[in-house]
Amino acid sequence: MARIFSGIQPTGIATLGNYLGALRNWVALQQSGDECIYCLVDMHAITTFQNPAALRQQTYTMAALLLACGINPEQSIIFHQSAISAHARLGWIFNCVARMGWLNRMTQFKDKAGKDREAVSTGLFVYPNLMAADIHAYHATKVPVGDDQLQHIELANDIAEKFNHDFGVSFFPRIEPLILKETARVMSLRDGTKKMSKSDPSDQSRINMTDDADMISQKIRKAKTDTDPLPDNLAALAERPEARNLLGIFAAISGEAQEAILARFAGGGFGPFKNALAEALVAHVEPIVRRTRDYLTDTAELDRVLQAGAAKAAAIAGPITDEAERIVGFLPRG
Ligand code: AMP
Ligand code: TRP
Repeated sequence: MARIFSGIQPTGIATLGNYLGALRNWVALQQSGDECIYCLVDMHAITTFQNPAALRQQTYTMAALLLACGINPEQSIIFHQSAISAHARLGWIFNCVARMGWLNRMTQFKDKAGKDREAVSTGLFVYPNLMAADIHAYHATKVPVGDDQLQHIELANDIAEKFNHDFGVSFFPRIEPLILKETARVMSLRDGTKKMSKSDPSDQSRINMTDDADMISQKIRKAKTDTDPLPDNLAALAERPEARNLLGIFAAISGEAQEAILARFAGGGFGPFKNALAEALVAHVEPIVRRTRDYLTDTAELDRVLQAGAAKAAAIAGPITDEAERIVGFLPRG
């Protein structure tokens, strides 16, 4: 039995990109027979300033969404990162293992920091070290993510290798990303070359996993496309990123092959295609939105679920982190 670990930041509202790229896979993996650990990474969230009340609310909303998508706390461990000290403790050790040069190459940092490198938090810079600690504190070996996280997974392997080498141990195992190929990168509805993101200033660029039926339909109707009719083969979409993105979403949501969908709409404009896509999306997403709202009415219950998950997570990550501290030469915690 392998151990699976993944995390999602409780910032903003989860998008269809989070759902198709990651969360849907988290749910499916519960049936794999592997042990699944899913973490709301609130410590990662504060690498950029979060209003405290909003952070609390968004953490509840994300917990509710995970349950609404089908994460079963009897089957999987679900908890918030800050509830367990192991993440911070191992994260610190990894701050001392990772090299400046490695972190300087992280494209996500470059994107997020932009021209403002001097002004972003130091936490944003060492964020990948904490992510490596999240995974390695459990000796997890499989990590379901979207492909924007690949570079961070490689870094987590580099950190583990250097730790093992520096201390002459084989303590941390190699980890492997699990990526759903077709939806590894769901793109913005406004620009088919940019990923759909919680933090895009335009709400029209994304479907939020809290949008109601009208909102979903309206966003799909207004989604950017081109003026050519739909072709009858995938190759013809090579230079049409917006059309390719909508088709990818359609296939992922309906379970139909992209070719089969194209065959139905080939030769026509985007109108009927978008109507059918909106209908499929509403049918899939609306029940999740409804269930999320229901779970959110009882935050005491959400606290109970997260705290029970944290106790189980601590029982795994605590001893592994104790051992990492012993390896580096810290005295026992007692
Ligand atoms: P984040 O929103 O950065 O906390 O990401 C949570 C998970 O969703 C990670 O596994 C990401 O790789 C995945 N993800 C985020 N945006 C997208 C997207 N547009 N397409 C596919 N996966 C995504
Ligand atoms: N960095 C990830 C993201 O922004 C979230 C994350 C934190 C994560 N720790 C993790 C993902 C550990 C997988 C495993 O999407």
